[in-house]
Amino acid sequence: MPVTKKKTAAKKSNTIKLKFDTSWSYDPAPESKSAATIKPRYDLFINGEWQKPAGNKYFATINPANEEKLSEVAEANTADVDKAVRAARNAYEKYWKKMPAKERAKYVFRIARMVQEKARELAIIETLDGGKPIRESRDFDVPTAANHFFYYAGWADKLEYAFPNRRTEPLGVAGQIIPWNFPLLMAAWKIAPAISTGNTVVLKTAETTPLTALKLAEIIEEADLPPGVVNIITGAGETGAAIVNHPDVNKIAFTGSTDVGKIIQRAVAGTDKKVTLELGGKAANIIFEDAPIDQAVEGVINGIYFNQGHVCCAGSRLYVQESVAKQVIRKLKDRMESLIVGDPLDKNTDIGAINSRSQLETIQKYVKIGKQEGAEMYESSCSLPRKGFWCRPTLFTNVAQSNRIAQEEIFGPVLSILTFRTDDEVIEKANNSPYGLSAGVWTDKGSKIFNMTKRMRAGVIWANTFNKFDPSSPFGGYKESGFGREGGLHGLSAYVSLKV
Ligand code: NAI
Ligand code: MG
Repeated sequence: MPVTKKKTAAKKSNTIKLKFDTSWSYDPAPESKSAATIKPRYDLFINGEWQKPAGNKYFATINPANEEKLSEVAEANTADVDKAVRAARNAYEKYWKKMPAKERAKYVFRIARMVQEKARELAIIETLDGGKPIRESRDFDVPTAANHFFYYAGWADKLEYAFPNRRTEPLGVAGQIIPWNFPLLMAAWKIAPAISTGNTVVLKTAETTPLTALKLAEIIEEADLPPGVVNIITGAGETGAAIVNHPDVNKIAFTGSTDVGKIIQRAVAGTDKKVTLELGGKAANIIFEDAPIDQAVEGVINGIYFNQGHVCCAGSRLYVQESVAKQVIRKLKDRMESLIVGDPLDKNTDIGAINSRSQLETIQKYVKIGKQEGAEMYESSCSLPRKGFWCRPTLFTNVAQSNRIAQEEIFGPVLSILTFRTDDEVIEKANNSPYGLSAGVWTDKGSKIFNMTKRMRAGVIWANTFNKFDPSSPFGGYKESGFGREGGLHGLSAYVSLKV
């Protein structure tokens, strides 16, 4: 019977294809650890010198991919913070604010060049300390960090073009507190505009990922920046709080959780400290039926699984128009299956290690909540290394708008998928969130893109792409995602006061 024969033949070819797909894999291509130098212990970089912490306490930073200790770093207490702020004040008053802008720019250019020169080492250390794939550290984090220094160095002596008919003055000492998801990039993102506009800096790294910022301190030392212009210290929440509460700090720039953002806002209320807060997100990524589906699926994968989903602007809520939902979900699952999870130093790896045990526990808690809420979970079938902190790329279907996994930030490789029928419906759903940092729209129609971007309450909206960054474009959120903009021209105004 010809019909049955045909069916069997199709089945057979399917089986053969599957077998072929799963048996084929890349050989390991690990980047070499030996190209990076990590000292066994780091002190605090204050006033251009490496100083021991007043309390003589140190804590370990580990590689989350194998839980091995990489180094230990100093825990700065209030006395150390005070010392760093005094060094920054002194540098500000004595030389940095008086220095002709074009001279300041030369220092910032020098830092940018040196970040480029040491790019390979910085990328390896970023990957070892934080667990992100080397491909990302190498192709995204480090080059983008260098670009931020180049970009703001360019503005340093052109502020009269940035703010026509206004005179600008630096704010003074900036206290900067950064998170663990983009350690070097966040340091660059914060330091570059601050020092280019004549401020001095006390920057605190996140406790799990201090090493690339400390390497940056070495670069700053080698670049011969006047002592105290940039001070880089390590420690946990208490150290951060000491910076926030120091009376001689003029500006606080913070990136991290909404909870800590709220603490900071309360702490500075009633003072004249300027503040910018870049907090959490729950970005809606919206696929319309007329979108180029394969491209959109790739964008969704990049949006949520990039950097293990440790991204405040991750596309963690996917809204798919009902007519194409089945097709999109099937393609997403197929693509998830081909993602390589494992050794972050391997150049083939797509998804590295979760940054810390506590972040892994947070993610696992949300996966459990999702199941309890009645959503349907799917995860890729890849095997995971035995040591270290790992999470398979995961998605949930049958998610309701009110579910916690659709409302709260998970900050891991976990996607919640919802469906919609009309433009109005999806705009209402996308805006129904305490956050408003970023969003994505996938459609063939330019008019639809403009309609959506006008009506969605999100600071950054990508159209037919996702997670694209450039030093020249401002970044920041609405609602509980924070306020103030970093990057671009807007990022300059956060570090100057405008005079007539
Ligand atoms: P966190 O907000 O506690 O940490 C961020 C930075 O703030 C770190 O340098 C930390 O030492 C510092 N910090 C902590 N308490 C402070 C305080 N009272 N005053 C001043 N500084 C303080 O974030 P955590 O606990 O590492 O992550 C928790 C959640 O936050 C994540 O699951 C994620 O949802 C979100 N998060 C968002 C980030 C973003 O890029 N917007 C980055 C990191 C975390
Ligand atoms: Mg670490």
